[in-house]
Amino acid sequence: MPIYIAICLGGLGTYVSDLLLREFSESSDLQILQVDDEVNDETQGHAGCGKIEVETTVDPKLLWSKSRFVMTWLVKLAVVENVKDVEDIHAALTAVGATAITAAVTVLRSHAAIDWSSKEFTSEIQRPMASPLHRSNESSPILYRASCIRSGSSHKFTSLDVSRTVGDCVGKIFPPSSWKASMKDYEVRIMSYVLNEKCWCGISLSNVDQQRNKGNLDSEFRHPHTPPDSTAVVGVRPSTASLLISLCEITFGEIVCDPTCGSGTLLIEGKYEWGDKVQFLGGDIDVDLNQMRMSDNNEVQDCGLSLWDCGRLPVRDRVVDVFVCDPPFGVGCGSAKDAVTLLPKLLRECRRCAVEDGRMVMLLAHRVKELRRVTAPGAVGKWNTGWKIVNERRINLGGMLAYIIELVVTVKIENDGDE
Ligand SMILES: C[S@@+](CC[C@H](N)C(=O)[O-])C[C@H]1O[C@@H](n2cnc3c(N)ncnc32)[C@H](O)[C@@H]1O
Repeated sequence: MPIYIAICLGGLGTYVSDLLLREFSESSDLQILQVDDEVNDETQGHAGCGKIEVETTVDPKLLWSKSRFVMTWLVKLAVVENVKDVEDIHAALTAVGATAITAAVTVLRSHAAIDWSSKEFTSEIQRPMASPLHRSNESSPILYRASCIRSGSSHKFTSLDVSRTVGDCVGKIFPPSSWKASMKDYEVRIMSYVLNEKCWCGISLSNVDQQRNKGNLDSEFRHPHTPPDSTAVVGVRPSTASLLISLCEITFGEIVCDPTCGSGTLLIEGKYEWGDKVQFLGGDIDVDLNQMRMSDNNEVQDCGLSLWDCGRLPVRDRVVDVFVCDPPFGVGCGSAKDAVTLLPKLLRECRRCAVEDGRMVMLLAHRVKELRRVTAPGAVGKWNTGWKIVNERRINLGGMLAYIIELVVTVKIENDGDE
């Protein structure tokens, strides 16, 4: 049975493994072998993402299309504990040997052979996951590249040392006539994620072209319609958006709103998951709506999109069941000062539009203290936004500590004072 490594949002490893089990519960042949996921106060860099070892015979087609909440999949080569030196990684890979590496490439090939343009895949957002192998002919050597994402301060080696070691190791296992290193035109990428003393190593199933264009971790497919003219939009990863949607625990017939939708990633993932069973609406103060509506993306076309200020939503009182958003937090998107004043404004307006038992899932990397202040039980006047926090999850968002915060409506806004 192939063993995969699912790379996911750091801090949500256990949640993602539960989702995998839930999603594939009918196939008894999916087992979670281990979950490695810790998020500390200190920033952990990109290698601090969650890793889940999964053993399964689930059809790769299904595995991909039903696990959009996974950032990327690797076919496992080795998981090395207590790494003190690159030699430890070298020894572990040597022990894996030629047969297991060749078997992993066979899994990659069967994945690459999927025809993602077939009618079976109704949504455009699935298709670019295809991972073409650029081989001129079967007898030519497999071109490979080794890459490493490393975090941890006590290492005696660099990421480059790890990549070089892995590359050399493969070069020793296979003769140059069958495997050849190539930095540019590779068809197989061997990824190593080193976090402190543990190394996860596998063959990436991400689209090779995207790996080339976007660098190491950034190989996830991005929705293609992101408005090029908007300077404010910093889109979330589709896998993060898919997780946020899942945390909303949406049910049939609900109305879901993203008040700061940017390029609409959350709406797209929601629509992809729920289709016509749920109404999605969203808006932003700074996007080119015409361009978004003209995109080929079915999901974005089917959402109610508006140009709006989230502090003055053109929405009636008490209609929205769930808000989901990643508001600007003043770093990389908007200014810090604006972000502070925006939060209470956004919350109060969402409270007005929310149903009595309305809820919200918010991704926040900064301004968490402010959010706690304006949702504290004793908050009054302008500090009372009518929401309370019911859950906070610490996550590693592209190397930095962030939070996914779940809120629910409190019964009423006391002292409905002006801002
Ligand atoms: C972090 S981005 C959201 C990214 C989005 N989730 C995506 O995937 O593209 C925050 C968004 O908030 C928008 N924004 C800032 N101030 C706003 C306001 N007053 N009303 C509505 N949107 C606002 C920005 O234009 C930006 O697109």
